[in-house]
Amino acid sequence: MNYFTEDRSPDVVNARMTEVSSPRLHRVMTSLVEHLHAFIKDVELTEPEWEAAIDFLTRTGQICTDTRQEFILLSDVLGVSMLVDAINNRVPDGATETTVFGPFHVEGAPEREMGANISLDGKGETCLFEGRVVDLHGNPVEDALVSVWSDNEDGFYDVQQPGIQPAFNNRGIFRTGPDGRYAFRGIKPVSYPIPDDGPVGGMLAALGRHPWRPAHMHFMITANGYRRVITHIFVAGDPYLVSDAVFGVKQSLIVPFEKVDRPTESWRAHFDFVLCRTDAEGRPGH
Ligand code: BEZ
Ligand code: FE
Repeated sequence: MNYFTEDRSPDVVNARMTEVSSPRLHRVMTSLVEHLHAFIKDVELTEPEWEAAIDFLTRTGQICTDTRQEFILLSDVLGVSMLVDAINNRVPDGATETTVFGPFHVEGAPEREMGANISLDGKGETCLFEGRVVDLHGNPVEDALVSVWSDNEDGFYDVQQPGIQPAFNNRGIFRTGPDGRYAFRGIKPVSYPIPDDGPVGGMLAALGRHPWRPAHMHFMITANGYRRVITHIFVAGDPYLVSDAVFGVKQSLIVPFEKVDRPTESWRAHFDFVLCRTDAEGRPGH
């Protein structure tokens, strides 16, 4: 009989998967069982450690709400989110690189006039963000939707402070014209800690890791016929660029913010987004 033994443990479990609903599910689950069993054997997991792991995962689920996703946070701090992003968003040289989506994007942000200020709480140093959305050959992309979001000067997203910050504070969507240009005003981003009052924060502390992210502005660019780009631009010189808690920094996304002395803004950041066409370009390995 194929009873469970330490030696044959993954094979015994995987042998039960006889009527799996898809070949892909079979591939993923058998590999998961193999790696999970190998990991447990590698560290010779103790029973108290197993109990602690169950307790950790239970608390991770229990703290989740509509506005708090502790499992995504766990994936982020373990580098899993960035690895999934890397595997699924390989792009050719010259195209804008992607980074972690994060848990603070919300649907329904308003489309605003080009140049509008997304900072509704009047805090922070005003910054002009501008550039173009172009294709791999430098041609402008018209009708691209440039969706942006950031924390406020205190380091919180509007959804973290309902009733304190105005709804859709530091959020907006901008539509490019025939020249592919976008421009909006927001605040010069500030670095902030990811939520660290839950199990993931406890894990970071136990590992001697800090929870900080370097200052950044989030962007999601969509346009008909082009692959969606989810990314950030990071503020050059931020002390956390080299130790981002979620490993999101890429050299190509670090932007010098220029100090300016204008009635409408004190800082300026310029960044062009280079999109790949759907399917035709930029899917090596797929
Ligand atoms: C963010 O940049 O909004 C973010 C990303 C990962 C975890 C927490 C926050
Ligand atoms: Fe963020």
